[in-house]
Amino acid sequence: MNYFAHITGWGTSVPANVITNADLAKIIETSDEWIRSRTGIAQRHIAEEGQSSASLGAEAALKALKVANISPHDVDLIVVSTSSPEHLFPSTASLIQDRIGATRAGAFDLSAACTGFIIAANMVAQSIRSGAIRTALVIGTETLSRLVDWEDRSTCILFGDGAGAFVLQASQEPGGVLSAVMRSDGSGGDLLTVPAGGSKLPTSYQTVKDKQHFIQMNGREVFRFATRVMAQATEDVVKKANFTLDDIDWVVPHQANQRIIETAAKRLKLPLERFVINLERYGNTSTASIPLAAVEAITDGRIQPGDRIVFVGFGAGLTWGALLAQWTGPLPAEKPKMWPYRLHGLYRLYVKLRSWGLRIVRLVEGMVWGQRDK
Ligand code: ACO
Repeated sequence: MNYFAHITGWGTSVPANVITNADLAKIIETSDEWIRSRTGIAQRHIAEEGQSSASLGAEAALKALKVANISPHDVDLIVVSTSSPEHLFPSTASLIQDRIGATRAGAFDLSAACTGFIIAANMVAQSIRSGAIRTALVIGTETLSRLVDWEDRSTCILFGDGAGAFVLQASQEPGGVLSAVMRSDGSGGDLLTVPAGGSKLPTSYQTVKDKQHFIQMNGREVFRFATRVMAQATEDVVKKANFTLDDIDWVVPHQANQRIIETAAKRLKLPLERFVINLERYGNTSTASIPLAAVEAITDGRIQPGDRIVFVGFGAGLTWGALLAQWTGPLPAEKPKMWPYRLHGLYRLYVKLRSWGLRIVRLVEGMVWGQRDK
């Protein structure tokens, strides 16, 4: 049987807390004019205490499931793209799986910086097309504000926090994800990096003192790289699906810098109006930026079912890639769903109780096994 991987649900979550350029100018030597003219960014949403990559990702995932009209029990796989995971392990995907009560789902994290959402969506689409799974959640979630040196004016002005999620589902109707390109050049790994905290440079007094747990970036080189690969990847993914740029309705680029997007548009000879851009209000939310922009354009009616969309991104690694999809929207429900959305609060409570219940069972089992061993 031939399956196609359709994008049938979407959702986002951003912290309510907003930091404007004027706010930043109070703590570092910068100005609204400098930031706007060099990046296009006016403000960014920053996670507050208690918010995290898992909490934002779970929020976005539940909204996406609601749009697709399916319950968390229907999800076979959760792939979370993030560069700001909650821990080295467990994966943020497993934490989200627990938070949303996706009791049947496998879950893992994918690390490809800002390109991650594209790679995750492609991997999931291929699993659906192979017949291995039917329903999956792709989540891009970041709290990069926790990895930013708020005294470094060359990086802290750029990043924001947020999450976006897509539901992908199998259908025999042609459409959905049509093609993808995925690329990497690790020789440029040092251009954008968080040097310490991994196995190469474990956390020590010295690494903390040297601020090596913060994002370090060669902005000019990343800029040059980005302008080169954005246009190329867009052309490649369109060609791979046997289309031309004239067949494309929308380009949803990674929202890093207005000037990078304008250069890519110029190189592709496409009007800027065909690009979905919202970085002015969110800054660079890394892997969350593509779903954050896409969902905005779906919600305000720009993206319509049947539209062909190129998602294109670049980031640390170096990595870059693009994905071409024909927009679908929710599939007709196989059977009407009673819950959990009409009982949202109750469902949240159930999921929490379930998680605590499992912990208590594990504790009791451990005590029983401990007694037996004596
Ligand atoms: N406010 C005021 N002045 C500043 C600021 C600031 N916030 N930041 C830097 N400057 C100064 C610099 O010190 C420098 O001064 P100098 O000439 O006296 O040395 C001057 O402005 C020019 O600095 P540049 O770094 O050359 O500025 P540029 O025009 O390249 O803009 C920027 C910097 C915005 C970072 C740009 O290079 C850029 O956007 N690069 C791409 C970054 C990017 O997209 N990164 C994300 C990748 S995705 C991911 O994986 C997370």
